[in-house]
Amino acid sequence: MKRAKIVQLLKSETPMDEVLIKGWIRTRRDSKGFSFIEVNDGSCLKNIQIVADSSLSNYADIARLSTGSAVIISGKLVESMGAGQKWEVPADRVEIVSLAPDSYPLQKKRHTDEFLRTIAHLRPRTNKYGAAFRIRSELSYAIHKFFRDRGFKYIHSPIITGADCEGAGELFRVTTLSLENMPKKDGMADYSQDFFGTEANLTVSGQLSAEMFALALGDVYTFGPTFRAENSHTSRHVAEFWMVEPEMAFCNLEGNMDLAEEIIKYLTAFILDESIEDLELFAKFVDKSLMSTLENIASSDFERLPYKSAVEILNKSGKKFEYDIAFGKDLQAEHERYLTEQHFKKPIIIFDYPKNIKPFYMRLNDDDKTVAAMDVLVPKIGEIIGGSQREERLDVLEKRMGAMGLPKNNYWWYLDSRRFGTVEHSGFGLGFERLLMLVTGISNIRDVIPFPRTPDSIEF
Ligand code: 4AD
Ligand code: MG
Repeated sequence: MKRAKIVQLLKSETPMDEVLIKGWIRTRRDSKGFSFIEVNDGSCLKNIQIVADSSLSNYADIARLSTGSAVIISGKLVESMGAGQKWEVPADRVEIVSLAPDSYPLQKKRHTDEFLRTIAHLRPRTNKYGAAFRIRSELSYAIHKFFRDRGFKYIHSPIITGADCEGAGELFRVTTLSLENMPKKDGMADYSQDFFGTEANLTVSGQLSAEMFALALGDVYTFGPTFRAENSHTSRHVAEFWMVEPEMAFCNLEGNMDLAEEIIKYLTAFILDESIEDLELFAKFVDKSLMSTLENIASSDFERLPYKSAVEILNKSGKKFEYDIAFGKDLQAEHERYLTEQHFKKPIIIFDYPKNIKPFYMRLNDDDKTVAAMDVLVPKIGEIIGGSQREERLDVLEKRMGAMGLPKNNYWWYLDSRRFGTVEHSGFGLGFERLLMLVTGISNIRDVIPFPRTPDSIEF
C-alpha cells in the first residue's frame, strides 16, 4: 500500500480502497462506539478525519491518543457523511508510533508569536507556521522557475569571502585562530597565521561573484544565505537572511528596474495561484487586507521616481518624522513607508540616490552627485529590493574606491572585469524574508525564517 499525502487525498475525485497515512494527531473526539481523529501530515493546512471504530483491537489505546502523537493509519477514503469535510478515512488499522504527553506545549488554543518564538523547534507544527513555511518553500521554487524561464543561470557564490561587498563593515569574522591566545604582529592580530592566510568573513552579498559570472554567462542569479552583523533590533532585520541576486550583462538601470518590478509581480501572482489555502489563513488571522494588498501589487504599475523627488514629497508632506530628511541623507523606514503606504499607496522604485550614501560599485551619474541606484519599496515593509547599475568604467571605479579608502589590491580580480571586455551591467538583491513578510502579512521577520539569528539570540 502506497503512502499518500493528505494534500493529495483531499483533492481526490474518487473514493479509494486503500490508503496509508502517516502523521500526527491534532485532535481526538470520542463518540459512542468510535472516535474521530484529526490527523495532519504537514503537506497542507487541512487535516484528514479518521474514524476509529471501537472494534479495532487497540481501541483502548486509540481512545487515549493525545495531541501531537504520531500515528500510521491504513483504511479507505470514503465520502464523509458529516458536514465540514468531503472525505474521511474509516481506519482498518491505527498504529501508534509514539505518544506526546500532556506536557506537549502545543495544546489546542492560540499561542502568541512571542511564545512560539521560544519554542521555534515546535512552531512549524502549528497551522500558522506550517503555512508560512510551506509558502517559503513554494516561493523558493518560484524564484528558480522565474529565472530559468527567462534564461538566467544559477550561480553558487561563496559563503566565506575576503571582500566586504557593501562596505558597511557589518561582517562576521571567520577564523580558526585562538581568540584567547591570538597571534600578534606589531600589536595587531596576525591573520597571516589564520586558516586562509588572511582575514575572512561571512558574505554580506553574493553580488561581486555574480558580476563576474554575468560577464561570462550573460544573465545569472544567486540565491543563498547572507550575513550581517548589524546591531539592529527591528522587526525587519536578522543577522542571517537569504537574498536573491540577479545580475545582467548589457543592462542599464531601467532594465534592472523592469526586472525588479516583474519578479515581485510574478512571485505575488504565483503564490496567489499556488498557495491560496495557506494565504487565506493569513488573510483571516494575521492581516485582513492581505488579499487586496497582494492583488494591488500583482496588478499595479510601480511608481518610479528619483530620490530628489522623493525628498521633495517628504518635505512637502507636512508630516512630522522622527528623522529629518534632506538631500544627501538616507531615507529611514518611516520615510519609505510614508511614500509607499500613504502617498502612492502601491510599490514604488526610487532611483538616483546621492553617491555618499551608497556603496562603491554603483555607477556614477553625469551629475557627479548621484549614482544609478534603485530601491523597491512596498507597503508595510519599506525596502524589499536594493540594486544598481554597476560602475563599468575602470578609471571611474578606481577613483571612487580610492576616495572611499578601499584596498585596491584586495579587489584586483573585480577590477580585472573592467579591464577585459567591460560592459554596462546591472543587478539587485531581493530580501527573501522581506518578500515572505509581504506575501503573508507577518509583521516580524523572526517569524518567516525557521530559526532566526538576531543580536543576543542563537538558540536552536
Ligand atoms: O540593499 P542591500 O544591502 O543590497 C545588497 O546587498 C546588494 N549587494 C544587492 C545587489 O545589488 N546584488 O540588500 C538587499 C536586500 C534589501 O533590500 C533587503 O530586502 C534585504 O536584502 N536585507 C535584509 N533582510 C533581512 N535582514 C537584514 N539585515 C537585511 N539587510 C538587507
Ligand atoms: Mg539597501
